[in-house]
Amino acid sequence: MLQRNPDPDWWRQAIIYQIYPRSFCDSNGDGIGDLRGITSKVPYLASLGIDAVWLSPFYPSGLKDGGYDVSDYRDVDPRIGTLEDFDELVMALAEVDIKIMVDIVPNHSSDEHVWFQDALKAGKGSKERERYIFRDGLGANKDIPPTDWQCAFGGPSWSPSGRDDGQWYYHMFDSSQPDWNWDNPEVHEDFLTTLRFWADRGVSGFRIDVAHALVKDFNGDLPNWEEMNGIREKKLRNGNKHITHPYMDRDEVQEVYKEWRKVFEEYNPPLFAVAECWVAPDRKPLYASSEGLGQAFSFDIMLCNFDAQEYRECIIQSLKDSEKAGSSTTWVLSNHDELRHVTRYGLPNVPNAGYPEFDDAFNEYKRSRFTNPPVDVATGLKRAKAATLMILGLPGSTYVYQGEELNLPEVIEIPNDQRQDPHFHRTKGECLGRDGCRVPLPWEATSKNLGFGSDRPPHLSQPEWMKDYSVDLQEYNEDSTLNFYRRALDVRKELQCAEELEWIKHDVEDVLHFARPGGWEIIMNAGKTPVPLPDGRRVIVSSSEMKDGMLDGETTAWLLAE
Ligand code: GLC
Ligand code: CA
Repeated sequence: MLQRNPDPDWWRQAIIYQIYPRSFCDSNGDGIGDLRGITSKVPYLASLGIDAVWLSPFYPSGLKDGGYDVSDYRDVDPRIGTLEDFDELVMALAEVDIKIMVDIVPNHSSDEHVWFQDALKAGKGSKERERYIFRDGLGANKDIPPTDWQCAFGGPSWSPSGRDDGQWYYHMFDSSQPDWNWDNPEVHEDFLTTLRFWADRGVSGFRIDVAHALVKDFNGDLPNWEEMNGIREKKLRNGNKHITHPYMDRDEVQEVYKEWRKVFEEYNPPLFAVAECWVAPDRKPLYASSEGLGQAFSFDIMLCNFDAQEYRECIIQSLKDSEKAGSSTTWVLSNHDELRHVTRYGLPNVPNAGYPEFDDAFNEYKRSRFTNPPVDVATGLKRAKAATLMILGLPGSTYVYQGEELNLPEVIEIPNDQRQDPHFHRTKGECLGRDGCRVPLPWEATSKNLGFGSDRPPHLSQPEWMKDYSVDLQEYNEDSTLNFYRRALDVRKELQCAEELEWIKHDVEDVLHFARPGGWEIIMNAGKTPVPLPDGRRVIVSSSEMKDGMLDGETTAWLLAE
């Protein structure tokens, strides 16, 4: 039986490494990453100095949205492995003191889920249909969708039942991802069973997908899309005001998490959960509270430009929000949904790069496949390392996305016929989609498939240049990004301290300087011109070399008293 480390606060300042299982390591050469592949890389994971891994979905799936369309919440996709493989992975990780978190996708299932198939078959008015959101269409023939709402990947968010019964089902994402009806107690029960199922297999926590959207109120007069989109943008971009929305961030969703909390507390230490919630800052504490999920992702640092002032404001706000909830905050620069940050930081100065989907100039540039002008990879890398070292010095937990420790850029040149993301397909290529950050990792520069798998080509092909980023090349190069991450995480462990931060005033506007308890200081120069280091301090880790004894531009250093 697995022994759990009893520290209930292990997550508060943890380093959590996100694995996208299909693209990590392929153990049987079929071109798809799998659980045994991950197990074979446990020594690598241990060498990074992380505290936990978070696995993106590995469940049976229709694979229309990278596994975020789950057809069985309590099993492993046979293309990825078996439950026994899962157990072995948990044990292997436990031996090197790494915890495991899994992704829970409670907003929607796959249309291949047996309950959805039952719902289609059972017909209108059945209790099976009550588990999802079915409504009659409008018009004499009921052939008009119930509302004009758009789904998150483009196109209508209602699809016909296909049974000639005038009914439509609601999907916030792709038509293959029908939304659950959280007014139905059976749905509640089923998710409680799922949480216990994974916890009993040794999982320490969960990442909750689209945590803000589960509960819907589709009664009464529904707003049209334009009206509602206005509400959403306001909430996302600058809204501090809570406006009732038929499916975003409704108060009732917290009742679901209170129920989950009871399950979390059945375990010792209690299970941990982090919410993926795109909500206004003043709403975040609800999700992060210790009666709710416990922690909420803050993506704000990812949305910041490389700018000291933006970073400062974001840090202050994020720490304030998490403190309000009695939680710790999170720092994220990359994940499986976003442009990898080496590339993002190498983009030319397009305004508002942080909000890509909302910005015309950025979308235009994206349509040029980032070629006009090209991405400046060297600048991107320098900034990426500086930003990484800065966030690792902050109180809170940091989520690292597979491949960022290799400084992997986004893969832009994926052939259209290989693209998998529904966002690409549903917008007919208008939106490039997220495949570029999901290309299988390069392990060995000169091996077939760069060591990802021994036989069939990876499910997304690796461009030629990717070999230069291989783990084996970086392993023995002291100056590699991989060894930079290892060093930083190692030193961070030594310096770990209370979750406090004190700002230190600096004359140069482009400089961020703060101290943590125990004399640990973090200084970041986000400008281009080198600045002097404070007197009486020595550098213990830095993101780039010092320049004539000064802190170079676009560089972060950790300092201790001499
Ligand atoms: C979340 C996931 C994303 C997925 C979506 C629908 O935002 O991170 O990958 O497409 O939810 O499940
Ligand atoms: Ca495989």
